[in-house]
Amino acid sequence: MEENKNLYSAVQPTNSLTIGNYLGAVKNFVALQNDYNCFYAIANMHAITVRQNPAELRRRTLELAALYIACGIDPEKCVLYVQSHVPAHAELCWVLNTFTYVGEMERMTQFKDKSRKHADNINMGLMDYPVLMAADILLYQTAYVPVGKDQTQHVEIARDIAQRFNNAYSPTFTVPECVYVKAGAKICDLLDPSKKMSKSAENANGSIFLSDDKDTVIRKFKRAVTDSEAVIKFDPENKPGVSNLLSIYSVFTDKSMAEAEADFAGKGYGDFKLAVGEAVADKLAPIQCEQARLLADKAYLDGVLKSGAERAAFTANKTLSKVYKKIGFYQN
Ligand code: TYM
Repeated sequence: MEENKNLYSAVQPTNSLTIGNYLGAVKNFVALQNDYNCFYAIANMHAITVRQNPAELRRRTLELAALYIACGIDPEKCVLYVQSHVPAHAELCWVLNTFTYVGEMERMTQFKDKSRKHADNINMGLMDYPVLMAADILLYQTAYVPVGKDQTQHVEIARDIAQRFNNAYSPTFTVPECVYVKAGAKICDLLDPSKKMSKSAENANGSIFLSDDKDTVIRKFKRAVTDSEAVIKFDPENKPGVSNLLSIYSVFTDKSMAEAEADFAGKGYGDFKLAVGEAVADKLAPIQCEQARLLADKAYLDGVLKSGAERAAFTANKTLSKVYKKIGFYQN
């Protein structure tokens, strides 16, 4: 990765974030902020593709802003903002829609999954979700997009759309690349390690939320699915449950996988699960505390988001105006 380039990512303010969101995305956002021009958004426009309670969406937006900062994102270094505060996202999305084929969108995995889950509300926004995401990324001339593995297909479509537009006119958009963390890009559900850990899982016991207290974290880890072998080693193919717990432990304690395995040599699954739970709960406690402190200072958070939106709009509008010129929109 080349330094000083633009980097973009976003998180939806839906439900409470899980440790999957943290390890796959937010923790990495913090690590990258010193070397890149980072834009981090709260994707509330994506959130409404599934019906949301308005009061809750508003509250979660501010909670996510506080969480970003509590996790270590410095709003002076990064541009931290709410997606709907920058109208250029919706505007570019409309243009990019005309460079995207319906068939491509129908084939997207997330669209198919969510259509199954929300069969009573397969709205146009759900189908258009990847195009709005392409607009997010392309507005900021983004070189790198740090995300979890589940977002790969969306970033690939953003690349295709960028190249299609650049070829139809002349180079306009930077073609973005995905960036993954070495460990933690796909944290799995504790009760079903064949699935990713999700904010909206049917059984909340399979997900550790960043808002969970210590007792809840430990209780959930105690119930985590393992296997009958009683050997603690990293082998995702044959031991998905144990390997998932080892990954979580190694990233939360900043230990290598070999060190993590060594910590549990000769130990049983009971001790192992308890140690993983404690490592996670101990890291979450100060984040929760800082988030609560920030949420008590709404004026500060509003100031951060206002300044973030202004800085984001400055960059976004430059790209949008280039696009409008190229496609022939009359400007005076
Ligand atoms: P969202 O809100 O679903 O998830 C936020 C980030 O968390 C990652 N993630 C995971 N990583 C590892 N293990 C898991 N179990 C896990 N679950 C989620 C996601 O990959 C993501 O990086 N569409 C995006 C939001 C978005 C966006 C963007 C991202 C909107 N515009 C532009 C990048 C660029 C989303 O739904 O994230």
